[in-house]
Amino acid sequence: MKKTFALLLAAIMMLALLTGCGGDKPADNAGDSQPAQSDAATPPADAATPEAPAAGGNIGVCIYKFDDAFMTTYRNALQEILEGKGYKVTVVDGNNDQAKQNEQINTFITQGVDALIINPVMTSAADTIIATVKAAGIPTVLINREPTPEQMAAYDKLVYVGCDAAQSGTFQGELILDTPNKGDINGDGKVSYIMIQGDPENIDAQLRTEYSVKALQDAGVEVEQLNLTRGDWDREKGQTICANDLAQFGDKIEVVFCNNDDMAIGALQAIQSAGRKVNEDIYLVGVDALDAALNEVSNGNMTGTVLNDANGQAAGAVAEMEKLLGGATYAANEQSVYVDYVKVTPDNVKDFMK
Ligand code: BGC
Repeated sequence: MKKTFALLLAAIMMLALLTGCGGDKPADNAGDSQPAQSDAATPPADAATPEAPAAGGNIGVCIYKFDDAFMTTYRNALQEILEGKGYKVTVVDGNNDQAKQNEQINTFITQGVDALIINPVMTSAADTIIATVKAAGIPTVLINREPTPEQMAAYDKLVYVGCDAAQSGTFQGELILDTPNKGDINGDGKVSYIMIQGDPENIDAQLRTEYSVKALQDAGVEVEQLNLTRGDWDREKGQTICANDLAQFGDKIEVVFCNNDDMAIGALQAIQSAGRKVNEDIYLVGVDALDAALNEVSNGNMTGTVLNDANGQAAGAVAEMEKLLGGATYAANEQSVYVDYVKVTPDNVKDFMK
């Protein structure tokens, strides 16, 4: 079966060469940086139905680090879905070390995996990762850390599954706009906030930071940034940063924006230790909808969060992987598949709690 498929591919490649259309060349994408919702996967250019390999193939999954609250939920969902479909799955921990992850990818390739699902340690390593999987011809789904469309265009058996990070930032801003005083607790005409950022190398951190504040500004609200500190997605860092900022700025802080829930849970500990009360004298928002955050939203200790749908993304990643295994390829600029974020408030939080 595999052989027939290889022959078919060889024939298609010959045809492509003869007609002069290089399969790897990105289409003209000047000026269009918006990744498309992808129904973009195209089956091989022959008339026959692509031959999806029987379930039971070997899948390698690389996670940037196991010790990340959100990626733990995500990788468990991935493993469950893949195993449920009969795949043999190996999930490895990159320990937040790109060199280590590169080795893991090479090992998977040497072992002859049928497909890879990769959560890169560093977005800046995308070029190297893509060149490696392309050279080995391994169908690959990237998750959680989105490369640029230009980077992905280098390999047509590659797709990204994730969320549009700008949307989560906008939703955070809207959560503040939906409060009775639109975030201006002390009524001085502006919203004074601190920003606790994830890893700034990561597009999720960059866009959430930008778009949360932009939502306020777009609504005509004046803002004042008291501090912006990187917390690397980490709960303890979130706590330390918030405690330091509360010591320095005290009651001036009206809003604590956290790029994720784990840091928001840390920040909440600092807020409570400082004797402040969320939704009365300070607002606090995160992203992810971790169980702990849902509890706090429901108890009134967080103003809100944004669902980062780990299960939906895991299901999407597996679905795209299966398309690739069936022989689909992706056109340049159509290599991102997005799952929607959802705003979580005290009004709808029950819908998200197990
Ligand atoms: C999540 C964070 C997580 C990060 C890892 C983000 O999308 O919101 O909680 O730490 O991904 O890359």
